[in-house]
This record gives sequence, C-alpha cells and structure tokens, in this order.
Amino acid sequence: TSQKLTSQTLTGQKILVTAGGTIEPLDPVRYIGNRSTGRMGYAVAAEAARRGADVVLVSGPSALADPVGVRVIRIETARQMREAVLREFPTAAAVIKSAAVADYRPAVVADQKIKKSDEDLTLKFVRNPDILLELGQKKEHQVLVGFAAETCQVEEYARRKLSKKNLDFIVANDVSEADAGFGVDTNRIKLIDRSGKMTAYPLMSKKELAGIILDHVATVLNNSQQ
Ligand code: CTP
Ligand code: CA
Repeated sequence: TSQKLTSQTLTGQKILVTAGGTIEPLDPVRYIGNRSTGRMGYAVAAEAARRGADVVLVSGPSALADPVGVRVIRIETARQMREAVLREFPTAAAVIKSAAVADYRPAVVADQKIKKSDEDLTLKFVRNPDILLELGQKKEHQVLVGFAAETCQVEEYARRKLSKKNLDFIVANDVSEADAGFGVDTNRIKLIDRSGKMTAYPLMSKKELAGIILDHVATVLNNSQQ
C-alpha cells in the first residue's frame, strides 16, 4: 500500500550519523585509537542520502571517501565529536551513533614528544564524556539509535545500554567473530527495540544492514510524527 511506502522514506529528514573511531593524543606524534574503520557508519550515511535524507556524518579519522551527497565533519577526539554532535542534534530527526568512541583519554597530553627513559611506562587515563548518554537525557523528538559491539554476553549488555541511554533501538553485534564487525564488509546484527523485542539478522553486507537500520528509523519516525 502507499502507506507502507511512505513509512520507508526519509526524504527531507535530517539524519545525523557518527562513524569511525575517535583518537586520543598522547603527545605531538602519538595517539591511542581503536580498530574501527568507519564502514558501518559510512554505509548508513550513504544509504540515508540515497533515500533523500539530509545527512550529516561526524567521522573519526577514516580512509573512506566522503559518501556522495553527505555533509562530512571530520574530528579526532571524543570531545570534538561531542561538540559537533551537540551542535547538529537540535535540528536532527534521528541520530545513528555507530562511532567507536574512546571511553578514556590520556590524563595529560605532553607538549613535546615523550622521550624514552625508564624500563616501563605507566599512563594515566581519564573518562571521556558519554555522548550518547547525554543525547538520551536531552532528547525531545529525536529518534536515537545506538550500537553495541561486544565480545561476550552480547544481548544482555546491549539491553542494558538501550535502557540506560534512553534509545529507541540498539544494534548489537558480536565483534569476536571474524566475519562481523571491525574492518570487514559484512556484519551480523541483532536489533533490540524499546519494547524489548529482538530481531536477529543473518550475515549480510553492511550496505544491506544499513537499509534495515534505516527502515526501522523510518518506522519509528512515522509512528512518532503521526
Ligand atoms: N558512545 C558514546 N560516547 C562514549 C562511548 C560510547 O556516544 N563516550 C556510544 C557509541 O557510539 C555506541 C554506544 O554509545 O553507540 C555504545 O558504545 P559501547 O562502547 O558499546 O558502550 P559503552 O557505554 O561505552 O560501555 P562499554 O564500552 O563499557 O561496554
Ligand atoms: Ca565504550
């Protein structure tokens, strides 16, 4: 029916996507990072633009090219990501937070390159702000989608994040599997929504999964805008 078709469209909706990993500097030449390459988030941004959305992608350092038709804001640290996201949030219809944000950053960033001296080195880290938690507290009309990359007890941890961060749904994946998660073109996800309903999907390309995630976003948007 035409109703069904309408529910899948994102035309004119502002969709904010985060992707890639943040990096946290230690000194002018070194940083702490993670294995995220940005592929899942870039696929979501590209597909949302293809569906007519007004897409803003806040990305950590990534080798991937800017998706066609997407406004890309490149940042490095978690705090820079937070600033960019908070700026775009008030006018966004939905936020899809696929970025792997560093939970901690070095307590001190040295002005000069750290020289080697002792036989061992201990670094002190401090907590970064949890951007998605903050969005969950601030949210008004926005649809909020989180990701949970886990190496064990995937479903249990994902459900906890869904409720703690006040999300509309969460995309959970087991990154201990070689064919899913970091650095590959495929992923195997579970979607868990606010009502607690879980749907498990087979191994799929990140492009196909982006479409599934955006179908869910469109459905939530339509239900809330009725
Ligand atoms: N996230 C965020 N800001 C952070 C950490 C995480 O916005 N400082 C977001 C991620 O982008 C993701 C979701 O929160 O959408 C879950 O991230 P994850 O690392 O799986 O969970 P954490 O809450 O950081 O918990 P932990 O790493 O201890 O499992
Ligand atoms: Ca984390």
